[in-house]
Amino acid sequence: MLVLGIETSCDETAAAVVAADRRVLSDLVLSQDDEHRPFGGVVPEVAARAHLLHIDGLIARAMQAAGIAFTDLAGVAATGGPGLIGGVIVGVMTGKAIAAVHDLPFLAVNHLEGHALSARLSDDVAFPYLLLLVSGGHCQLLVVEGVARYRRLGTTMDDALGEAFDKVAKMLGLGYPGGPAVEKAARSGDPRRFALPRPMLGRPGCHFSFSGLKTAVRQMAETLPAEDGPRQTAIADLCASFQAAAAESLADRTRNALSAFRHLHGGAVTLVVAGGVAANAYLRGRLQGLADAERARLVAPPLRLCTDNAAMIAWAGIERLRLGMVDRLDFAPRPRWPLDPDATPVGYAGVKA
Ligand code: KG4
Ligand code: ZN
Repeated sequence: MLVLGIETSCDETAAAVVAADRRVLSDLVLSQDDEHRPFGGVVPEVAARAHLLHIDGLIARAMQAAGIAFTDLAGVAATGGPGLIGGVIVGVMTGKAIAAVHDLPFLAVNHLEGHALSARLSDDVAFPYLLLLVSGGHCQLLVVEGVARYRRLGTTMDDALGEAFDKVAKMLGLGYPGGPAVEKAARSGDPRRFALPRPMLGRPGCHFSFSGLKTAVRQMAETLPAEDGPRQTAIADLCASFQAAAAESLADRTRNALSAFRHLHGGAVTLVVAGGVAANAYLRGRLQGLADAERARLVAPPLRLCTDNAAMIAWAGIERLRLGMVDRLDFAPRPRWPLDPDATPVGYAGVKA
């Protein structure tokens, strides 16, 4: 059973072909970094136009690399949201058109479900498991009970962690995209040089908050030396200090989620970390330490499956297709699409979670 996956919800145009036995036949990601770099962040209209320009050619290349024809497919899966609506429309329309022409099932995949199930493509992970989803738009702890069955334990009350990385990179002049730049700078930095707050540390529950930490970094950034050499050292130290504070907060919240999970489902816990920020080696190391201490199994999918890609969308499509969860061709793209619609809203109205 082969499924074509299409991902266009943010600033990567991606297409992949995945088999139900977990073979990834092709997995192409076209980054729009160069288009967005002059603006220091993703411009939705620029993103939508770039997706439109590249999607057809990219799908053709993905099919060619997989060595198959559309008639060999069992279904077409496209990200149906949440995300920048212009881009989501491009992917959904393209997926629907291929499905209609070749009379194939169409699967509208929640991008977050793509991240959530990615560990089942890379590793043997059974339901239920605990998921730490850390990306540019989301920072959540969820119990994954099954396909389309999520229970949110915690979310951010303000910024997502990826967003905080991106903003820190911007205020320190590290450019775009921010997360990998901060991680790189932090590698040579001293994490003890700047005393930054550890948001939510020691508080009950599993919610996150990163805006106070971000503001503290901004205040310290204004005091950095102007001279080139010392400035570079201070930037590296500030990045390392920020990463250490963020990691400590993540680990603290995740520890609470592990006990909540054990309360719900008993003994053995698999902790899955997914989303773009899960590509960060320092954070992965910190979470491994937590998992060891808590006798949990940590599963962190390979880096290219953490950042946005279409293999995870194809895989989520396979999981849904197996359960007969096919979508109609009148599916309407969704700018917002929570994994757990019953979760109580937190934070201010602008929170995307
Ligand atoms: O999952 P993703 O690719 O897109 C969304 O669904 O949001 O996540 C993108 C986010 C960005 O904020 C990016 O800066 C962050 O993931 N990111 C990282 C790293 N690589 C990507 N953050 C920290 N360290 C990294 N190595
Ligand atoms: Zn994502």
